[in-house]
Amino acid sequence: MTEWEKSGWRSKPRVQMPDYTDAQALARVEEQLSQFPPLVFAGEARRLKSLLGEASRGKAFLLQGGDCAESFGQFSANAIRDTFKVMLQMAMVLTYGAKVPVIKVGRMAGQFAKPRSAPTEVQDGVELPSYRGDIINDLDFTPRARLPDPERMLRAYTQAAATLNLLRAFSTGGYADVNQVHSWTLSFTESEKAEKYREMANRITDALDFMRAAGVDAQTAHSLRMVEFYTSHEGLLLEYEEALTRLDSTSGKWLAGSGHLLWIGDRTRQPDGAHVEFLRGVLNPIGLKCGPTMTTDDLRVLLERLNPENEPGRLTLITRFGAGKVAEHLPRLIRTVQEEGANVTWVCDPMHGNTIKSSTGFKTRPFDAVLREVREFFAIHAAEGTIPGGVHFEMTGQDVTECTGGVHAISEENLSDRYHTACDPRLNASQSLELAFLVAEELTRLREDRTSRAAG
Ligand code: PEP
Ligand code: CO
Repeated sequence: MTEWEKSGWRSKPRVQMPDYTDAQALARVEEQLSQFPPLVFAGEARRLKSLLGEASRGKAFLLQGGDCAESFGQFSANAIRDTFKVMLQMAMVLTYGAKVPVIKVGRMAGQFAKPRSAPTEVQDGVELPSYRGDIINDLDFTPRARLPDPERMLRAYTQAAATLNLLRAFSTGGYADVNQVHSWTLSFTESEKAEKYREMANRITDALDFMRAAGVDAQTAHSLRMVEFYTSHEGLLLEYEEALTRLDSTSGKWLAGSGHLLWIGDRTRQPDGAHVEFLRGVLNPIGLKCGPTMTTDDLRVLLERLNPENEPGRLTLITRFGAGKVAEHLPRLIRTVQEEGANVTWVCDPMHGNTIKSSTGFKTRPFDAVLREVREFFAIHAAEGTIPGGVHFEMTGQDVTECTGGVHAISEENLSDRYHTACDPRLNASQSLELAFLVAEELTRLREDRTSRAAG
């Protein structure tokens, strides 16, 4: 079980991957990608892993967010900037509540490939292959558009590189400077929560003024001017992932060079399948989505297979059961982890278990259900004495109407106003900020409980 090759997944059963019809075209693309520079550096992946290890001990907290699926058509600097802005705002709210560092990870710069519930889609009596994300085929409902085209991997690589470049520029170039805390507010997010954010930003600005007057050292001042921002995506399209995998000369281990953190989806986590085989061998921190069908037997095998050295920060369990189902599933998974003595970072994805079809025909998520699942996640961890390490959201900085509810009370009738997602419905900027305040409240409560227990 220990020997590993980057192409070893090819001999395992694969699901949710396209059947490319032109083998030569595929081989040409793989060859080209394998000559391109990786997008991330091994030292960054190791650093993120150590931060996630901190999160598993309650010394840091993960905020992971972005589009369900990035798309070629909606690729723009403004869209990247606005999602980044909202994440900075959310991170600020969380830091303020939790009083621990917030690890910022985008579902960005590579989140292109999508697992689907059905291999084909029927519209007006016509059946075509399902859309599988822009890296594979096109959303248009024509036979040609739905044909998997390997050339799309090159375009995805280019878009990911450009996105990451802008994110790095924003992170270190002054945009994310904490002194700019007021400027990240988006104009359309006016609400009670936006007001609450403004008050918090005022207090932060005051604290910064105080620190300056008291003579904060140059190192601290410098570090407040930038943030660390990491990228993540589902490691689904293994031809693409393999082609970007490189040997890290420092450690002699393999780095998946397409992003900092890769996760295994709820539909591709078969212990003997291709995705687990590929991801077990790379040095990156990895995520594992756990839905209601995750059995404790499978989890046991996966813990061993994906993190044989039980390294803290290596494995993040992203649970996504749906509101009302957390109490049924999370405790049994927690127990399994405890029985195995496994180090994991527990993260809540309150999106994927709460997807419904609205009466108006749109795939949506009731904001209330999202909030409820987050609350249940915190409550169960409190009851089990385990540590909630982070949250995972599908969100955007755009003013979309894709999830119902929230401060602007989006109704099922409103969904058609600005419904732009290429795949699952995302929280808009106002809903994201509202959610951040709820998570911050939960974290504050947790911190106060801990402090009072320590005192008592
Ligand atoms: C996703 O994160 O977009 C996704 C498909 O999630 P899951 O694997 O949890 O269904
Ligand atoms: Co999704």
